[in-house]
Amino acid sequence: MSEQRASFSHLGFIIAAAGSAIGLGNIWKFPYITYANNGGSFVLIYLAAVVAIGAPVMMAEILIGRRTSKSPVSAFLELARGVAGGRLWAAVGYLGVATGFVILSYYSVVAGWTVYYFGKCIIWSFQGFTPEVAATLGDQFGAFLGDGTLQISFHAFFMALTMAVILMGVSQGIERVTKVLMPVLFVLLVALCLASALSPGFGEAISFLFSTTSITRDGILEAVGQAFFSLSLGMGAMITYGSYTTRKQSIRRDALMICVLDTVIALMASLVMFSVIFSIPAAERAGTFSASSTILFTTLPRLLYDLPGGALWSPMFYLLVAFAALTSTISLLEVVVSYFIDHLGWRRLRATLVVGLVTTGLGVFAALSLGANEALTSWAPFGEHDAGVFGSLDYLATNWLLPVGGFFIALFAGWFLSERITRDELEAGAGPFRLYWMWRWALRVVCPIAIGWIIFAVIQGKAFN
Ligand code: TRP
Repeated sequence: MSEQRASFSHLGFIIAAAGSAIGLGNIWKFPYITYANNGGSFVLIYLAAVVAIGAPVMMAEILIGRRTSKSPVSAFLELARGVAGGRLWAAVGYLGVATGFVILSYYSVVAGWTVYYFGKCIIWSFQGFTPEVAATLGDQFGAFLGDGTLQISFHAFFMALTMAVILMGVSQGIERVTKVLMPVLFVLLVALCLASALSPGFGEAISFLFSTTSITRDGILEAVGQAFFSLSLGMGAMITYGSYTTRKQSIRRDALMICVLDTVIALMASLVMFSVIFSIPAAERAGTFSASSTILFTTLPRLLYDLPGGALWSPMFYLLVAFAALTSTISLLEVVVSYFIDHLGWRRLRATLVVGLVTTGLGVFAALSLGANEALTSWAPFGEHDAGVFGSLDYLATNWLLPVGGFFIALFAGWFLSERITRDELEAGAGPFRLYWMWRWALRVVCPIAIGWIIFAVIQGKAFN
């Protein structure tokens, strides 16, 4: 093999992995599905899912990567030697590579929106956010979605940013960039939380998030699926990042840290969103809101500009979301690129350019499927579920690819890897692992049942995206 494998510093690994986890899933998706599921109990179930399912799988992924110092396909090939199923396990790695490619192609379209709205907010802040602007936010967003040139431009711009970081490599690119972006994101979010604490809706936001309500069976499954997506699990992103760490650090502590950071950021983002939403009188609210995926762009600007200092908060908010998205797209691209580097022996430059451009190409179809192109917009291979290339890719990834990948990763680490290997990895840099059997049985039983239940519901026609 050609180049020596790069690696993260200890802190660099935690920040990069947290950067992967913290993304649109935390700031865009978590708040609106929490809203759709009535808050309180959904949050509680989500927390339980992070502890019982997310954390064990996170440890398993990092362990697989660090043990082999390889990206998913090669890692499975190495660890599956002499294990039942043998080389077949590499399929889980291939599935992960394909999943990364699929998610990145549409994720970067949404990431592009955040850059566009950052720019729009700057203009609004200077020219004035007039009542006329506020009244037409929905129409403006609709027009933006239907504008093919804008959609493609911002998607391509975001892909270019992502590729630039990946080109610079693991420590000079990913680590260096996430180490700047993540602290900035955190400070911005804390500032926004403080600002929202002064808004009239803050109290209601707190009680909405933290008092128990009723929850449906689908809500429970949605919480589990969201935990997976939010923690970047199920496609080997953490295997890939884990392959760049050393045995000096504790996988248990790092995984815990990443889970805590991811969850805290999701809760903070929700607090900000709900504070501004609940600042509007309830009567007025009923007509204005639907808990939809577009809330971030159709409703939030108006609310942010209502805050004292709104001209400052609004662009800041979208900048923050763009940063969160970038540290996630980086991880998605790295999974695919590292496959070509590790398994096929390509140079990073070539792998990044080829993979990046092909992904940008697929994303163009997604970008045009939001109204710009009739055929792409109504294409619905999965029937009643989200129509359009964009909706279909999202449906495919969140309902099939990630759960199936996560299911097999859990099975592999729970039943097929030896106790000697897993214990050794989990104790390296940390000392005796008293809860080892709890971890092992979580992977053997709890995770497969919970994830299997999701897959079962999806087979029956449910959709969780
Ligand atoms: N976790 C990110 C988010 O919350 C998205 C993401 C990045 C992801 N890498 C991933 C999701 C790998 C699943 C698998 O937005």
